[in-house]
Amino acid sequence: MEQYVIKGGNPLVGEVEIGGAKNAALAILSAAVMADETITIENVPNVRDVNVLLNAIQEIGAMVERPDAHTVKINGSFIRDMNVDNEYIRKIRASYYLIGALLGKYKRAEVALPGGCDIGSRPIDLHIKGFKALGAAVDIRHGLVRASADRLRGTHIYLDKSSVGASINIMMAAAMAEGKTIIENAAKEPHVVDVANFLNSMGANIRGAGTDVIRIVGVERLHKTEYSIIPDQIEAGTFMLAAAATKGDITVRNVIPKHLEATSAKLLEVGCEVEEFDDAVRVVASRRLHHTQVTTLPYPGFPTDMQPQMAVVLGISEGTSTVTESIFENRFKYVDELTRMGASIKVEGNIAIITGVEQLTGARLNALDLRAGAALVIAALAAEGISVVDDIYYIERGYEEFEKKLSSLGAMIEKVSTEKEIQKFSLKVS
Ligand code: EPZ
Repeated sequence: MEQYVIKGGNPLVGEVEIGGAKNAALAILSAAVMADETITIENVPNVRDVNVLLNAIQEIGAMVERPDAHTVKINGSFIRDMNVDNEYIRKIRASYYLIGALLGKYKRAEVALPGGCDIGSRPIDLHIKGFKALGAAVDIRHGLVRASADRLRGTHIYLDKSSVGASINIMMAAAMAEGKTIIENAAKEPHVVDVANFLNSMGANIRGAGTDVIRIVGVERLHKTEYSIIPDQIEAGTFMLAAAATKGDITVRNVIPKHLEATSAKLLEVGCEVEEFDDAVRVVASRRLHHTQVTTLPYPGFPTDMQPQMAVVLGISEGTSTVTESIFENRFKYVDELTRMGASIKVEGNIAIITGVEQLTGARLNALDLRAGAALVIAALAAEGISVVDDIYYIERGYEEFEKKLSSLGAMIEKVSTEKEIQKFSLKVS
């Protein structure tokens, strides 16, 4: 099992290049199987969840090529199997996108019920509601979601919650249904727009993505395209908060500053300097930051995927802050780990009440999920002394070369896999 060993205390300074958005990539790679021609996708992040999905896409017969680490070519004309199930795919959430893609194209799909990070109950009832409204029969048996239809017909769907996954999944199936579909209360996240743009570049007819009403007119077939995925707003935000927590000065490059506005606004509020350029954002924290209130909300609100990282920053800022989690019911599990580093955080329902402490101290920590794992790394970088973060498998699901990017900013961090290596690191840095 690999771990990160980290010595905290260095301000992180420098520039870091942000990769393609993981959550856009997972949907776009799935949608790529809908054409019978070769699709080329660039700016694909080389992270574990993406690789698991590509493996599954290959297993059902599609051609998958990787001319370089960040470019993927997919040709769905070779698909012979509509059954997606292996021990890995069951662990990732985004496997559900293959239901929408295969159902849209072949009118049939059988996909293992998705897993993903344990951040609360994560139903897929809205996805199923959408597929049924399009005319599919859907059931769940033996851990598989099975959807099939003689034909899919355009329909009017209202989403009870503005779910990112359901909006994208229904959009994919509807792209190849007969007639017009309207999705109301659709999610407005940048990756919903990116998937719509990608499908349109394949010949789909989708309008309104980025607003809460998406209109889709189904087409008979989709064709080849070349497409580059948008930058990862959460990876970028994570580095911005790492600058804040370590009193550093980081410029995130290859980003769309507009997608980062909620994070930038909170950083300004707590006392950072934030400078926006065309495709970069610089965050400087030159003194102790102060408290604020944060509530996670669908885009353009503060992202739930930045909530644990923000809690770390507030955990060492002056005064009492609150963080309200309104999207997922169980996304505060990392608080116990921060407490072991000396943080003072009390969770009441979906609110964390954080009293900032002067200094965190290094400890042995568990990365409990992807973003919680990233948050613990930030905490360890800001803390006094040495920390070990176990289970970095979770972090590698969504961050490419995290430790290398952090090292290039001056962090003392190494990926290790034995106690001996941890001791060696400790001797080296002390
Ligand atoms: C996506 O999850 C992301 N995952 C998550 O990324 C992210 O936290 C989340 O969107 C919110 O932005 C992927 O893109 C693979 P939702 P998703 O459907 O699609 C409820 C990360 O760290 N809901 O927008 O599963 C749900 O319980 C992660 O990268 C239903 O009730 O999220 C939640 O309260 C983890 N029924 C809310 O909607 C449904 O059928 C929003 O969830 C679907 C969702």
